[in-house]
Amino acid sequence: MKILMVCLGNICRSPLAEGIMKTKVPENFVVDSAGTISMHEGEHPDKRAIKTAANHNIDISKQRSRPITRKDFETFDKIYCMDIDVFEDVVSKTRNEEERQKVSLFLEVLGDHENAEVPDPYWGDMSDFEKVFQLLDRGCDAIKNQILKS
Ligand code: 4NP
Repeated sequence: MKILMVCLGNICRSPLAEGIMKTKVPENFVVDSAGTISMHEGEHPDKRAIKTAANHNIDISKQRSRPITRKDFETFDKIYCMDIDVFEDVVSKTRNEEERQKVSLFLEVLGDHENAEVPDPYWGDMSDFEKVFQLLDRGCDAIKNQILKS
């Protein structure tokens, strides 16, 4: 199973989601992350995201931001998007129904469609990053259970 987490910049939410998910899934799973913009390409995650993950004993400091590519739609089985803008952008890049079926909103699995977005903590403070971490942790648990059941 190959899972791709996607947000806007690939420096806050999706690097955290990647780091969290890697601690939960079997070793033969591939977990990666990407952004819909290339503005931060090559950068390590935001310092606050690195610190928040470290507070939970997860090291995301070696990750590097990269934009989503055409190849990702072939490589990955599941592509999870952090918010609706990202979802719409990623869906618009799909070329066929098979690719489209791989794409979903990350928080949809929690069943609350009104609150299916992971808020962007980029303009916030450390408490916003911790809230995002908790949300991502719940979402990753639910996604892992859903995948392992199927
Ligand atoms: P992310 O957060 O999508 O969770 O990585 C953001 C990072 C950078 C920007 C926006 C959101 N930005 O505008 O540069």
